Formats: sequence, structure tokens, C-alpha cells
Amino acid sequence: MKTTVSVIKADIGSVSGHCVAHPELIDICEEVLNDALESNILSDYYIGRCGDDIDLIMTHTNGVENEEVHETAYNAFLKATERARELKLYGAGQDLLSDTFSGNIKGMGPGCAEMEFKERPSDPVIVYCCDKTEPGAFNLPLFKIFADPFNTAGLVIDPSLHDGFTFEVFDVIEHRKVLLKCPEEMYDLLALIGSTGRYVIKRVFKKNGEIAAAVSTEKLNLMAGEYVGKDDPVAIVRAQSGFPANGECVEPFAFPHMVSGWMRGSHNGPMMPVSELEANPIRFDGPPRVVGLGFQVADAKLIGPVDLFDDPAFDPTRKEAAEIATYIRRHGPFEPHRLPAEEMEYTSLPGVMEKLEKRFEDME
Ligand code: 13P
Ligand code: 13P
Ligand code: MG
Ligand code: MG
Ligand code: MG
Repeated sequence: MKTTVSVIKADIGSVSGHCVAHPELIDICEEVLNDALESNILSDYYIGRCGDDIDLIMTHTNGVENEEVHETAYNAFLKATERARELKLYGAGQDLLSDTFSGNIKGMGPGCAEMEFKERPSDPVIVYCCDKTEPGAFNLPLFKIFADPFNTAGLVIDPSLHDGFTFEVFDVIEHRKVLLKCPEEMYDLLALIGSTGRYVIKRVFKKNGEIAAAVSTEKLNLMAGEYVGKDDPVAIVRAQSGFPANGECVEPFAFPHMVSGWMRGSHNGPMMPVSELEANPIRFDGPPRVVGLGFQVADAKLIGPVDLFDDPAFDPTRKEAAEIATYIRRHGPFEPHRLPAEEMEYTSLPGVMEKLEKRFEDME
């Protein structure tokens, strides 16, 4: 029998602006998921939180894109939204685009990363949950985990990793996808995924087709050529025995790389790896955060998690991220801190251009 890990996330309201999801909302999600556990839709679950985003981490045996599982998550978010509205939380129901479920959560607002696999004798699975950034934020760390031998020693010294991995990349502007093999096509892969707003790693596979990683990209799927805003992403990564080691999977986050998001979804800033307790993006609504939760999956149950960035070895990264935040903040409304016009979640530019239109003159 195969096990499915489904991570479905949404921002349905937060306290003091976009900072933190209210604990009562998590309690309501817990009640709904507990009912689904009792009626055998789910085998197990853990509810994570990163900033204002609630992350429903669910295991079951129903396969990916299962209607009952998706509906469970949607109902949890819908029910919690009612309470968010009563409490007049900020952005109550922000990520729910419809109040009736229609078979699959895709296109309805929440983000979703899923994978189905036959459990190994021991099956470590890591879930990363972000706030104040976008799915392309995972391009750099996933590349390092699955393709960079200076990060992942196993690519060189472990025969079970030596073949490399295949990356599935979405072109979110043209709405198409491509599979690229590493190490053979590494330079082609990098040529694409360096453009984090356009080319997004959706999944990673072993060369034999086994799933290795999956990223939520739902809101981007909606784009169809038009910009509809960012979606704070989640990712699932399998570790050990044929996959990169747990430590190789967290190592890329020791570098606080630049990602898009932060204040009003319109700024570049450093990604700060934090414990669950420190997943509170407050300074200028950030800087962007990532939480890592390490589980062992056993007979579709979740053992753990270990709060992976709750390790003093990541203190220098957090300090560096805070220093980079100070440096880049000094640019105020200038690029490259502020995003280019076409990538901003909020923009006054069309209004400004309209107002100034008549005052523009041809240059000599
Ligand atoms: P242990 O010796 O602690 O089991 O670690 C083995 C290992 O391969 C760590 O990456
Ligand atoms: P969220 O995407 O986390 O809701 O943040 C939006 C925002 O505008 C932060 O300043
Ligand atoms: Mg929000
Ligand atoms: Mg958020
Ligand atoms: Mg966001």
C-alpha cells in the first residue's frame, strides 16, 4: 500500500496585520482534521504555522488530488474563516476564493504540495513552510539539495544518489512545463530557474521516476498570463536512503538567499530560517521566513516533528539575514529592494502614469 503526504496551506486571517495566524483558527482546523481522522479520510496530521499561514500536513492512503482530503482542508479553512471574520482578523479569508468546494482545491486559493510513495523501511520526510515569499523561493535550495555536490556530498559519495535527479519546471507565464535531468542538463536548468518569478521547480524525481520533492504552486497556476499575486509556499522533501541526507536537505538554508515577497509582496529580502516559535515576520512584515519540520513517516503516521531550524548552528544565518535586511531596507522604494513594476503585488504605478500622461513630452 502507498502512503500520501498532502500539505495544504492558506492564510485565512492574522493578528496585528499580516504577522501571525490566530491560535483559535488553528484549533478550529484541528477539530475538522480530527473528524476526518475519525472517519478514516486521514491517517494522521500535524498543523504547522509560519507567520499568517496555516499549514495542514496530512497523511492518508487515498492518493494525490483526492477529493475528500482536499475538501477536508477546504472545510477547515472555511470554518476557521468564520471565526476570523468574527474576530475581525486581518485578511480574514484572504486565500479562499470561493465558499463552495468543487472537487479539487486547485484554483480555489489555498496552496498544495502532495506526493504518494511506497514507504521505505524507514522514511524521513521534511516539510518546509514559508511566509512572505513565493514558490520560486525554493528554486535555489532545491537545486542545491538535489544537484549541487558542494551541498550534497551524497551526489558524489553515495552510489544510490550518483545518477542525479530530474527536475520538473513550470513556466508560469506561458503555462507549460519541462523535465530537465541533472547533472546532464544542469546549465539549462540553471538558465531557467534563476528566473524565480517565471520558472518554478514543481517537483523533483529520482531517475527511476520515484518522487523526491514537491512544491505548492497553485496561485501561480491561476496566472494564465496575468499577475495575481504571490503565494507563501510549502515544499515536501524526502530524505536519506536514496535521497539526500536530512542534514543535506537543511544545509542550503544556512545561506539567507534573496527572495521576493516581504512588505506588501513587493520587495526582495533575505530568507531567514527559523524555529516554529520564531516564525513571526514582524520587521517590515518580514524578513521572509522558512520553518523546517522533520518527520518519520511510519504506516502513514507522522512521527515527530523535529523543528529543524531550532539549532544554534543557524544563529549566524539569522544574524546575517537581519544584517542584510538592514542593508537592503536602506534602499527604501528603489530597486533592487522594491521589485520591478511587473512583479509587485501592490502598485500605484498605473495611477501615477495616468495622472502624469499629459505632462510627458517627447524628448528632443
Ligand atoms: P550517525 O553515525 O549519527 O548515525 O550518522 C550517520 C550519517 O550518515 C550522518 O549523515
Ligand atoms: P501575506 O502574503 O503573508 O498575507 O502578506 C501580505 C503582505 O502584504 C505583507 O506586507
Ligand atoms: Mg496575510
Ligand atoms: Mg503569509
Ligand atoms: Mg504572501
